[in-house]
Amino acid sequence: MKNNDWYRGMSFYQIWIRSFKDGNGDGIGDLYGVYEKLEYIKSLGVDGIWFSPIYPSPNADFGYDISDYKNIHPDYGDLAQFQKVLRKAHELGLKVIMDLVVNHTSDEHPWFIESRKGKDNPYSDYYIWRDKPNNWKSLFEGEAWEYDESRGQYYLHIFAKKQPDLNMDNPKVREEVKSILRFWLDMGVDGFREDVINFISKVEGLPDGLPFLPAVNGMPYYKDGPHIHEYMAEFREVCSEYDCFQLGEGPMTTVKSALQYMTGDTKSLDMMFSFDHMMADCVYTEYVHRSFSLVKLKKAFTKWQNALNGRAWNALYLENHDHPRVISRYGSEKYWRESGTMLAASYLFQQGTPFLYQGQEIGMTNIRLKHIDQYVDISSHTNFHTYHLKDSIEKRMARIHHSSRDSARTPMQWDATKNAGFSEEKPWFYVNPNYKRINVEAEEADADSILNFYRKCLALRKKSKTLLWGTYKEYFPSNEHIYMYERAYQNIRYVIICSFASHPVRVMKPKEYYGRKGKLVLCNYPKDAACDDRGYGWFRPYEARVYRFDL
Ligand code: NOJ
Repeated sequence: MKNNDWYRGMSFYQIWIRSFKDGNGDGIGDLYGVYEKLEYIKSLGVDGIWFSPIYPSPNADFGYDISDYKNIHPDYGDLAQFQKVLRKAHELGLKVIMDLVVNHTSDEHPWFIESRKGKDNPYSDYYIWRDKPNNWKSLFEGEAWEYDESRGQYYLHIFAKKQPDLNMDNPKVREEVKSILRFWLDMGVDGFREDVINFISKVEGLPDGLPFLPAVNGMPYYKDGPHIHEYMAEFREVCSEYDCFQLGEGPMTTVKSALQYMTGDTKSLDMMFSFDHMMADCVYTEYVHRSFSLVKLKKAFTKWQNALNGRAWNALYLENHDHPRVISRYGSEKYWRESGTMLAASYLFQQGTPFLYQGQEIGMTNIRLKHIDQYVDISSHTNFHTYHLKDSIEKRMARIHHSSRDSARTPMQWDATKNAGFSEEKPWFYVNPNYKRINVEAEEADADSILNFYRKCLALRKKSKTLLWGTYKEYFPSNEHIYMYERAYQNIRYVIICSFASHPVRVMKPKEYYGRKGKLVLCNYPKDAACDDRGYGWFRPYEARVYRFDL
């Protein structure tokens, strides 16, 4: 296997800047705060940072509605401060990747302001305009078309009304994208996470979707569209002039289509974020809620591990800014430390490049605000005001508590002082009241904390060829409580065993391991874990163990 691509042996930390750390005392996270915390990020054992959008934006979708691609949002600093952060990150040996959001812009972007003026304007074809809308629904806000008075036409928005879709069929738009890539690469960034990149080419004629499908009814006509690989090749060509890493976000992507982006003649991405494992309890748009199924989660993990092995490389993640906190989803707030550490082990040792989302490393949990009006995320409002309207307010709020993206966007909990040490001023959003217990400072001081467990996992992974490059195999896939997987490389094997149960579970060894005594190298409980010839003994609630076998 080719394993010399630099990103493959790495791990990344995702910063959603508004809630990371306020450095200039206005209650909003910023690049001054990031600068202060770069050593902390480095201390986790990660090798790079992914910045969710930090560009000027009216924040209809908190940065994913960009009004200037070549600048920094004044709330977060300026280009000079960004360069300072970039320089220091590089000095510390951290790569920096930016978010590239080019499926849509903000409606306040100068291109759209011009485009909406009329049909005889240099920007008139930068967006997708029609006299008559089709029946597509948007993912965030009702119909996917909005009538614009000044232009006298409808524009397409797959996301919010304030996020008009760019017309990527227009070569001028693609030139703009290339110019954005060059701008940041010339400044020294190391790559891009490319937002909903599999949506950028739409089927000609924009046919109606199936009427009975909810928000996703247009998806067959804009996911992996007819010209996607041509456009992606153009962007890849620019990136190839630099040492640039490209990671695509692929909502609803399948193994088959993801492999087209990552291999062969159509290779245009180094990795892709897939969504299959996010379906183990919820869907992206939050209107359906399912109870968690470990078997489903494992199936998704294993499907991607097997399919990509030797052909491409997985982007591993459990959390990001689009999903509620994982401990609150399918860990346990009661067994907070145990489940937080177990969840780390459940994905950090798979084959691929792990991504950690800010706060995940200290086990931050969901916030539960009383009123819907206290929430700021557009999709939470759509969820509350559109779906299951017959349910009681309490029931609808319970769904928000369980599923809102805002739960992942509360200010980072740095210490037990006022505002969790995030800011001296009133933070822009609610701090989770559990910050006195769950915070970086407290966990730094506790050798058995979730924070220190993440560090141990990342360090173990980094120094082991088996954990970095080894093959993956799952055992007991239909077990409803235990996730057991093996990594193998030459004569060294690791077996990672994670209990997702809140009660003790007896765990057998796979037959291949009968009579072999492994060495327990990592455990999230005090090390009195029993293991005999045939079994690993009883696993305590949310216990995780990593055994090493030298064959
Ligand atoms: C995916 C991003 O991660 C999400 O935050 C955003 O709302 C949509 N794309 C639209 O840009």
